[in-house]
Amino acid sequence: MPITEVDKIWMDGELVDWRDANVHVLSHALHYGSGVFEGIRAYQTSRGAAVWHLDEHMKRFFRSAKLYHMEIPYSLEAITEAVKDVIRSNALNACYIRPVALRGYGEMGVNPLNAPVNVFVAVWPWGAYLGEDALEQGVRVKISSWRRNSQNSLPAAAKATGQYINSVLAKVESLKAGYDEAIMLNESGFITDGSGENVFIVRDSGLTTPPIQAGCLDGITRQSVMAIARDLGYEVREENLVRTDLYNADEVFFTGTAAEITPIREVDDRVVGEGHRGPITKELQGAFFSATKGETERYASWLTYVNG
Ligand SMILES: Cc1ncc(COP(=O)(O)O)c(C=O)c1O
Repeated sequence: MPITEVDKIWMDGELVDWRDANVHVLSHALHYGSGVFEGIRAYQTSRGAAVWHLDEHMKRFFRSAKLYHMEIPYSLEAITEAVKDVIRSNALNACYIRPVALRGYGEMGVNPLNAPVNVFVAVWPWGAYLGEDALEQGVRVKISSWRRNSQNSLPAAAKATGQYINSVLAKVESLKAGYDEAIMLNESGFITDGSGENVFIVRDSGLTTPPIQAGCLDGITRQSVMAIARDLGYEVREENLVRTDLYNADEVFFTGTAAEITPIREVDDRVVGEGHRGPITKELQGAFFSATKGETERYASWLTYVNG
C-alpha cells in the first residue's frame, strides 16, 4: 500500500521534515532486525483526533524494548506527548501511528548493546488495511505452510522488527496463491494469528480466540473486542483452535489495529458460514467503531484526545 506523505516526523526529540527522517545504512537494526515498534490508530471524533488505547500501546512498546535489553532514551510520558505532537503538527484528524525504537549507527556485529537507540514516531493517513471492501465483504485466507516463530526462538510478547520476517513469508505466500491474508499455526498445529491480526471464531453464538500461550501477539484490539463482546452478553473463550475449527465456524474474523475488525469469508477455499460478514461480526464492528468515534461513554477512557 503506498504511503501518503505528511509534513513532519518526530525523530529523537525533534519534529523533522518527512524527507529528512533518515537513518544510516549501517544502522544495526537494518542488518539484524534489532528494532521494536508499535502500530496505533487515531480516529476522528467530534472533539478532534483521538488515539485508541494510547497507554496500552506505549506500555507494550516499552515491554518489547525491555525484552531486547533496549533502553529507550525517553520516558513513556515523553513518547506519549510525541505521538500527540506529531499528529497535531501534521493537522491530521485520523491516522496510523508508527513509533519505532531502533539500534542505530555506531557498532557492527550481532551485539546490539553498544549501538545507540534512536526513536521516531511517524504518522500518515491509512484506510482499511485489507482493502476498502474487506470490512463489509470479508477476506479470503490461507493457512500458511510457514509456522509461527516458536516462542522459545522469538518471543511473541515482543513486537520487534526482525520478528516480522516470519509474517512476511506467510503474507507473500498467501498473496502469491491468490488469497488476501495468511493465518499461521504454531509448531503443535494450533492457530496463532494472521501476519498482523488476531483471529476469532463465532460458533453457537459464542466467541473463541487462541490464548496468548499459543504464540499470538497479545493484541490490543483483541482485548478490546473481548471486552465489547462480553459487554454485549456473548461468552468469550480463550482456547486453542485447530484449522478445522475455522472451516466449521459460523463466523470468523480478524482483529488488529490496522485491520480493525475484518470478516473472513473463506479459509483454504472453504466458505465460512454464509460466505459473507456474519451478524455477530457486524454487531461487534458497530460497537467497535462507535467506541473509536467517542460515542460510547463506557469506553471513553480508551481514547486520548490529541487537543485537550
Ligand atoms: C502478528 C500480529 N498479531 C496480532 C496483531 C494485532 O494486534 P493489535 O490489535 O495490538 O494491533 C498484530 C498487530 O500489531 C500483529 O502484528
